[in-house]
Amino acid sequence: MTKERKSPEAAGVDGPRGQDLWQRADSVLPGGNIYFSRSARFAGDGNLPGFIERAEGCRVTDVDGRTYLDFNCGNGPNLLGYLHPEVEEAARAQAAEASLASFFPPALVELSERLLDAVPGYDWTVAVKAGSDATALAARIMRAATGRPLILLFKNAYHGLSPEFISRPGQGWDTSNLRRVAWNDTEGIADLLEHEGDQLAGVILNPLDQNPMRPTRYPSADFLAAIERVREESGALLTFDDVRHGFRLHPRGSHQALGIEPDLVCLGKALGNGHSVAALLGKEPLREACSGLMLTSTYIFDPVAFRAAITTLDVYFRDLAFERIERAGGRLKTGLLRVAGDTGHNIELSGPVTMPTLLFEEDPNNIRARRFAREAAMLGAIFHPSLNWFMCAAHDDEAVDEAIEIAHQAFEQTPRVGEAL
Ligand SMILES: Cc1ncc(COP(=O)(O)O)c(C=O)c1O
Repeated sequence: MTKERKSPEAAGVDGPRGQDLWQRADSVLPGGNIYFSRSARFAGDGNLPGFIERAEGCRVTDVDGRTYLDFNCGNGPNLLGYLHPEVEEAARAQAAEASLASFFPPALVELSERLLDAVPGYDWTVAVKAGSDATALAARIMRAATGRPLILLFKNAYHGLSPEFISRPGQGWDTSNLRRVAWNDTEGIADLLEHEGDQLAGVILNPLDQNPMRPTRYPSADFLAAIERVREESGALLTFDDVRHGFRLHPRGSHQALGIEPDLVCLGKALGNGHSVAALLGKEPLREACSGLMLTSTYIFDPVAFRAAITTLDVYFRDLAFERIERAGGRLKTGLLRVAGDTGHNIELSGPVTMPTLLFEEDPNNIRARRFAREAAMLGAIFHPSLNWFMCAAHDDEAVDEAIEIAHQAFEQTPRVGEAL
C-alpha cells in the first residue's frame, strides 16, 4: 500500500499553522540552542513537525491536523501510550479531590511504597518533579555523606540541568569539583583513584553511552569493574542515572541489566507517563545524609502527578509492558533493516531495540538521516534523525507494520551512498 505524502508542495513538514507558530515563536522565544533536543529544529528546519497539539496512544497530531506515528515518545515519557486511559483517569480523579494543598498528600507515601516495590533493594525514596532534581540531589547526598568534593562523570554524559553538570570550563560556572573520564576508559578511572581517590565523593553513571548521531556503547565489564574498585578502595558512592533508560532496559531498574547495585538510583521521564514526576531511590546507609539536606520546592508535592505515576507503575507491571515494548522494538528493527536493504541502504539501529539510534552508512553530517526523517514525516511517521527513538507499549503490530511501510517509501526517496546528497 503506497502512502500519500501529506504536503508534496511544501518545502517542510509544517503546514500554515505550524509555520505561523514558528514565526511567532521566533519573536518571543530566545531561539538558538536553548531548548536543544526538545525543539523539532534539532532535526534541521522543516524535517519534523514543530508543534504538536494532540497525542494519543502512539500517534501525535500537529497543529495543522496531520497525524504521525511517533517514535520520539515525548523524548521518553510516553511509556504506555499517550493519554493512557487508566493513568489519565487516576490523574483526573485526584484533580477532582485536590491538586496542590498545604501539606503532604497521601499519594506521596503510596508512590514511595510502589517505587520501593518496583525497584528491589532500596530503602527510601524522594519524589521530585524532574530527572534533573533527582541527579542534583544525588550529587549533594554523595558529597554530604562522604564530606568530599569531587564527582566523577563520563564524557558527553548528560545528567540534567544542574549548572555544575552542563557548564564547560570557561562558561562561567565552577566545575572544578567535577572530573570527566571517557566512557569505558578504565585507565582513566584507575588514574583518578590513585591520585584523587581520597577526595572523591562519588560517581554518576548512565546505563549506556548514548548520544545524538553516535553509535550506542554499552559499558564494558572492565569499566564496571573499575568503578566497583573505586567504590571499594576509596569509599566513593555510586549514583545510577536511569532517568532516560529507566523502564526500557529492565523492568526493575536498568542496573539489574548491568549486574551492579548502585547506592542511589535516579528515575524520571517514563515514571509519570507524561506527568511531571521523578524520584531518587537510596540505600539505608544514605538515609541520614539525605535527611540532613533541605529540599523543598512549591510543586514537588503534586498529587496529580503522583497518582499518574502510581497508576503507570501498576499498569506497566500488570500488562507486562516491558515485554511488549521489547517485542515492538524487535519487530520494528527487523522490518527497517529489511526495507533499508531492499532499497539499497546500509543502516544500523544502534543500541537496545527499545531505544535505537538510526545511523546511515557514510552520513557524517546527518544529511541522509535528516532527508529520511523528512520523507517519513511527510508520509506520517516521526523517526528522529539524530536522537535515539523510544518505543512504547502502544506500538502494536499494526502500528509497527505501518511504520515499516512508511520507512520503505522514505528510504526510496533518500540518497544512497554514491548518490548526490
Ligand atoms: C540521562 C538523563 N539524566 C537526567 C536527565 C534530566 O531529566 P529532566 O529532563 O527530567 O530534568 C535527562 C533528560 O533528558 C537524561 O537523559
